[in-house]
Formats: sequence, structure tokens, C-alpha cells
Amino acid sequence: MSAFICEPGGSVSGSIRVPGDKSISHRSVILSSIAEGESHISGFLQGEDSLNTMAAFQQLGVDIHRENDRLTIKGVGLHGLQAPDSALDMGNSGTAMRLLLGLLSGQKFDATLIGDESLSSRPMNRVIKPLQSMGAVIDSETDGRAPLVVRGGHSLEAIQYDMPVASAQVKSCLLLAGLYASGETVITEPAPTRDHSERMLRGFGCQVGQSGNRISLRGQQKLSACDIEVPADISSAAFFLVAASIAKNSELTLTHVGINPTRTGVIDILRLMGADISLANERDIGGEPVADITVRSSELKGIDIPPELVPLAIDEFPVLFVAAACAEGRTVLTGAEELRVKESDRIQVMADGLQTLGVNARATADGMIIDGGQMASGQIESHGDHRIAMAFTVASLRATGRIQINNTENVNTSFPGFQALAAGVGIKVSTS
Ligand code: S3P
Repeated sequence: MSAFICEPGGSVSGSIRVPGDKSISHRSVILSSIAEGESHISGFLQGEDSLNTMAAFQQLGVDIHRENDRLTIKGVGLHGLQAPDSALDMGNSGTAMRLLLGLLSGQKFDATLIGDESLSSRPMNRVIKPLQSMGAVIDSETDGRAPLVVRGGHSLEAIQYDMPVASAQVKSCLLLAGLYASGETVITEPAPTRDHSERMLRGFGCQVGQSGNRISLRGQQKLSACDIEVPADISSAAFFLVAASIAKNSELTLTHVGINPTRTGVIDILRLMGADISLANERDIGGEPVADITVRSSELKGIDIPPELVPLAIDEFPVLFVAAACAEGRTVLTGAEELRVKESDRIQVMADGLQTLGVNARATADGMIIDGGQMASGQIESHGDHRIAMAFTVASLRATGRIQINNTENVNTSFPGFQALAAGVGIKVSTS
């Protein structure tokens, strides 16, 4: 089992580009595969999660050629996928499993979806139930856990669905199923969530309606091949936004970062805490806004995190908790119970880790209360969660002693090369 060893202190400087956006990378493979014609993707995330999605579509009969972060995909059209001859392994990725479940529900063949221990314990009923009401037939383990078998040959009918949780995965799953359904699928979100699926579907020539929090899509629309440039992942950039904010004498630029407004909660929250973050060179790349982000050291202060920002920063809380531990005063997060069903229970695992370092952090049912203070040394269990491992690496910049983070392999699911990039800008992290 690999570990990160982090020596305390240091400052952060330079200009870096973090790897491609994970959400957009998954979607680029999915939509290119069912489009008509050849699509080219650049900036594709070469992390295990998105590579698993790519491998799944190869198993489904799609001709995909990859050269580093460039993919050429010969789309097979909406009805051209073929039965896989073995189970599709989604590894650690909830996005891959939930989105594929929607897509596979509309096929003529059976397919089995499996995942690792973490993924096999995550809730899938949030997508299985609405898919069943569209006519899908899905077998699962107890409580809708993976492995899942999607039975093919059942025609789907559009539904109108009010999502009980603000989840882009649920929304995207139903939009993909909706492509195969007869009629118009209408989904209502309780709060805005990332809209990469809607934007990319439009890029492939599909009509997606949006009126307030209501998203609609007519079934059986054709997709036409399209070229996609994947921006750098703001969720990966977030570790460095916090790093350069909390470390003394730091100034760091992150280039070509996706700043889709449904993803920028981390910038808003850090600015409310007093962070010095500026955006330059704002531009639009293939329907997604992108910018270069510069961040400088600042004295952060504790805040009550506005609940409306929670879905817009849902993956960034592990490192935002580290920012809160370095801030003066108390930070309170509420309305974030979804964090308990991510790759790990991110409320409990982060509270445990911060307490190990001597921080006064208290887990609540739907969030955390953190009093900023000094972080000491300690051994942290990441529970195989990539974002926990990277968050505590950032914490070392303000710790007084060495931090060892165990079980760091899964950093490769979203951020291959993290350790080298972090070390390159000044974080004293090595592997053991
Ligand atoms: C994702 C949506 C989010 C996020 C996940 C990626 C996506 O999950 O946490 O890392 O690509 O749609 P939920 O939509 O379930 O909140």
C-alpha cells in the first residue's frame, strides 16, 4: 500500500496546468461513442476513472484510439453499441456507474456493471428507481448496491422526475436514458448542479431545453460527432487554490481551468474566507468557460458556508476543511449530507484526520464545525479516497510536524502525477 510522506511547511509558487476535467472526460467518451462520425478529444484525463469509462466503451464495440490525452472515437450511433462479453468494471467511479446505467437501460442487450469495494457500497437506488419507472429492468444486490445487471430489450418511456437530491449524476443518467425513450424526459433539480451533460449534448447537436430548474430532452435524437477540448479540472486545481492561500509567501497560477459557474463554488467560498484569487484570460472553449487563475497567500477567516454553494463545491470540501483548519475563527458547514456517500464518508474521515492533527473539528449529520488552529503531525487514513489523500498533503504546508497519509493509490483515479506536480511547486511530499 503506498503512502505520502509530507514534511511540514514551505511555500508554493509557479505556473501549472492540472489534468483534464474528470466529469467532462467521462461525458466526452460517452457522447462521442453514441454519436455518428469521428470525434476528437484533447486534454482527456488519463486517470483511472475516465480510462475505465473508455475501456467500457471499447468493450461495447466502439473503436477508440488513445495517444496520451488525445482520443479518436469512431461513434457507432445511438443504436450501434454491442453486447460486452464480460462485466464492465467502473472501478472507483460513481459517475461512470450511474451514467452508464442510464445509457445501458436503453440497449437491446444485457450488461453487468461492477466496481471496487467503495463503489459497491454506494447508493445506486437514486438512479435505479427513476430508471425503473421509465421501464428499465435492473438487478442489484441489497439496497440497490453493485454489482448491477441491466437487462436489455425493454423499451423506455420518458418520465417527469423531481430529483430528491441535487445530483448531476442522477440528472445525467436520466438524460442518457431519455435519449433512448419515447417522449420528452423532464427533470427538475432542487438546486443547480454541474451542467456539463447539457452543454455537451448541445455541442453534439442535440436539443436540450432548460427553463429555470427544469431540464428537458426529447428521445431518439441523433448526435453528430464533435471535437472536444477538455479544460483542466477545477476540482484538481482546488488543492492548489487552498495550498497557495494557506502557505506563506506564495503565488501560484493555474492555467486553462474550467470555470463553469456550476463548478466554481470553491472560488466563492475561499473568497468569502478572504482568499486572494484572481481570474485572467477568460475565454470559451467548446461551450465551457475557461480561465487562468492566480492565487496568493492570505489570512483566511472562518465563515458560515452559504448552503446554496454546497452543490457547486461538492467535491472540494475535503480541501476546504483544511482551509478552515488554517483560518482564524470558526467555519460551519451545513446541508452537505451528500458528502457521507462519496468515495468515502468525507465528513467522518476528514473530521477524524483533522482531529488526529489536533484540530478542533466536529462532524455533524450534514456537515462540520471547525475551529481554526495549529495542525501538528500525525498518521492519516485516507480510506482509499483520492481527495482525502490530496487534502491532507496540502495541510502539511501549515503543520508543525510530519504527516503520513496512508492508502494513496486512488489519487490516480482523478489526478495522475499529483505528487510530482505538488512537489514541483513547493509542497514537501514524497511517496513511500
Ligand atoms: C459528478 C457529479 C457529482 C460529483 C462527482 C462527479 C459528475 O456527484 O461529486 O465527483 O460528473 O456528474 P453528484 O452528482 O452525485 O453529487
